[in-house]
Amino acid sequence: MVLLKANGDFPLSNIGEIALYGSGSRQTIKGGTGSGDVNSRFYVTVEQGLEKAGFTITTKDWMDHYDRVQELAHQEFVAGVKSKAQATGVPAIMLGMGAVMPEPEYELPVEGAGDTAIYVLSRNSGEGSDRNVVGGDLLLTETEIRDIRAIANTYKQFMLVLNVGGVVDLTPVMEVPNILILSQLGVVTGDALADVLLGKSCPSGKLTTTWAAWEDYSPIGDFGLEDDTRYREGVYVGYRYFDSVSQTPLFPFGFGLSYTKFSIVESVASLDGSRVNVNVTVKNVGSTSGKEVVQLYVSVPSGKLDQPFQTLAAFAKTEELDAGQGQQIMLSFAMEELTSYDTERTVDVLEAGDYLLRVGSSSRDTHICGIVRMNQEVITRQLSHAGGTPDFEDWKPEAQQWTYAGESDKRANAQVLILSADDFVAGVNPAIPEIDSAVRNMVEGLSDSELAWLCVGNYRSGNESGSVIGNAAFTVAGAAGETTTRLKEKGIPPLVMSDGPAGLRLSRQYGVDEVGVYPVGESIPPTLLDFMDDEVKAALGFQKSGGAERSGSIYDQYCTALPIGTALAQSWNMDFCRACGDIVGDEMERFGVHLWLAPAFNIHRSPLCGRNYEYFSEDPLISGRVAAAITHGVQSHPGCGVTIKHYVANNQETNRFRSNSVVSERALRDIYLRGFKICIEESQPYALMTSYNLLNGVHTSERKDIITGILREEWGFDGIVMSDWVVNGVQHGTKKYPYAKAAKSIKAGNDVMMPGSEADHTDVLTALAGTNKTVTLTRDEVQDCAARIIHIVFKLAGAKTQPSNIIDKGV
Ligand code: BGC
Repeated sequence: MVLLKANGDFPLSNIGEIALYGSGSRQTIKGGTGSGDVNSRFYVTVEQGLEKAGFTITTKDWMDHYDRVQELAHQEFVAGVKSKAQATGVPAIMLGMGAVMPEPEYELPVEGAGDTAIYVLSRNSGEGSDRNVVGGDLLLTETEIRDIRAIANTYKQFMLVLNVGGVVDLTPVMEVPNILILSQLGVVTGDALADVLLGKSCPSGKLTTTWAAWEDYSPIGDFGLEDDTRYREGVYVGYRYFDSVSQTPLFPFGFGLSYTKFSIVESVASLDGSRVNVNVTVKNVGSTSGKEVVQLYVSVPSGKLDQPFQTLAAFAKTEELDAGQGQQIMLSFAMEELTSYDTERTVDVLEAGDYLLRVGSSSRDTHICGIVRMNQEVITRQLSHAGGTPDFEDWKPEAQQWTYAGESDKRANAQVLILSADDFVAGVNPAIPEIDSAVRNMVEGLSDSELAWLCVGNYRSGNESGSVIGNAAFTVAGAAGETTTRLKEKGIPPLVMSDGPAGLRLSRQYGVDEVGVYPVGESIPPTLLDFMDDEVKAALGFQKSGGAERSGSIYDQYCTALPIGTALAQSWNMDFCRACGDIVGDEMERFGVHLWLAPAFNIHRSPLCGRNYEYFSEDPLISGRVAAAITHGVQSHPGCGVTIKHYVANNQETNRFRSNSVVSERALRDIYLRGFKICIEESQPYALMTSYNLLNGVHTSERKDIITGILREEWGFDGIVMSDWVVNGVQHGTKKYPYAKAAKSIKAGNDVMMPGSEADHTDVLTALAGTNKTVTLTRDEVQDCAARIIHIVFKLAGAKTQPSNIIDKGV
């Protein structure tokens, strides 16, 4: 959790009466909507958590009334979407997907007994829709502003608790003395809040995304356009923008308070080749125990290339420090990690000049602790053009960048470390491991049709709708999908894939009958079920527990809902992220899932992206590191791999299948690709998912330059590349750009088109036969993809001692 404001009234010293208000008090949100929602057995709401901890809630009436307000508003909302669907001819499920009802206005008396009050403000969002700049979504409602202010003035102690997945503009309530981002923490949400209110644990999270007033966010680039969204702001994303225009946000990147206080008493920098080490001593100078996150930023000198004021270069979290206790921490990074891409010369470069090292506890609270001086430019790597070219020049800051008062004196006295070109080793492309000859022989022996089966997901013949996104697996009920089962007899079992990122997403219950395994009841999120007609539900084979259409026994299958991606990142705690990955890996082993469709770490480019809650940060370093830590946790389990996603420049949900992200090569490499590179180099994930969107006019899954070129040749990725899940054949509406297609994707090196359909199979076969109107494929090209898939099938499914099939297990 991130403590944004504190006046010392918390933690509470007594368990007693508490007046609990706000949408999240009973209807607490454990995680957002869509494929990122996890079907846990239960989760603890704030009301339940506080009661379990011994509090007496004095506002039960308020909560009962609020439930009715919500229910009525929800009915109206669903009816509105359905009538819009009728009017436009677009299926309600497409319009409703991810559409989240804004918080309604209401009039309820604020009169709960007690000296202490908590207002839990919640916001939901998810796949398929972006957030809106309206009250009840990014902004506060009139009701919220009125009640929060009134409650803050009525009770002796008051805490505003934010049960949110992303930014809310808090400008109207900034006078509130205590504000805590609870976030959405999965099963433990309410329990964890009780612990923090009572001081059993001390909040130690820090923001991984800038929280600002809505009008202060960058107006430079487009956001959420249907066809072309131009990323005109270039590399000036998040704090890189706020620093560059001298704008003070409400709460800066890296910020978070604690119940105690820390000082960073000493920091000494040294060089080891091109690696910079900064030794820091952190001391708890308050009166209670807690943890601090130390951050190291570098101001890279502007030369030929313009530069943001600072860039996060390293960070570390302390142990739990008792009052008075100190800890030595070493922050370390290689200068190569700070390069910028020079588009003209297609190189990664460090220009000559002074690199200022800044250590501190947030992006706006640091001191210069050294200077790395480079007397000449160093080109660290020769690269080539990739990703396409936009039709504009990136924005550059003109105004004076933000800076600290008295900075020049500190700079004059700082220790200087000289670095020369000889301290660098030239970067080269890593060797790509050869696929073993047994696998090569195997693919040569497969027919064209068999190869095509391997390269599209496991679809149900003649029943396209069965391959519905998020529920297409035959083997494990409620798993998102799997690679083909049609080649089992040839010794190639399927890879079963299940969503994330806040845990493993399976159906809560499944049935087993003579036909096989089938998901029951709520395996599709209620937010989607609301928009499905009974006919559609029946066609998809979903039914309530004990439903009549299919018989057989019904079993339970529960997974753990973990904190959402943003909350994991806000911990800045890599051990904790790894531990969460370990929980997922453990459940994957139990349920027979090979590939987890997570972690997801697209950059928080705008606070309006509907899926930001799944993602980590506006900064690529913390994004890549958190993803690597989670990957280590999952992949420490035999037969379990992650699928990092969505590669790349997938930063909005509006028209998500067919929107075109127009991005410069420099912004692409320095911001959007960087997190993927870090994760791949640090943790070798088994799979990667390309994104739905186009990148500079071509679907990412169809871009050979970023798949074969950057991913495989430059970074040495040797896992599977899969598409994001397009069901060929159920597309709707006319848009400027087409949907991604299977054969074109395979040609680019995107190994498998998920979740697969008969139409995808045909697309590949006709491309092989030379009768496809848009593309031709050679057998070699398809064999390469097939070989990479089998290579990972053998590593993951082949590694299991038990068959992964639930039926085979005799459950
Ligand atoms: C989402 C992916 C998800 C996939 C499978 C897609 O709609 O964008 O993140 O993994 O569905 O459920």
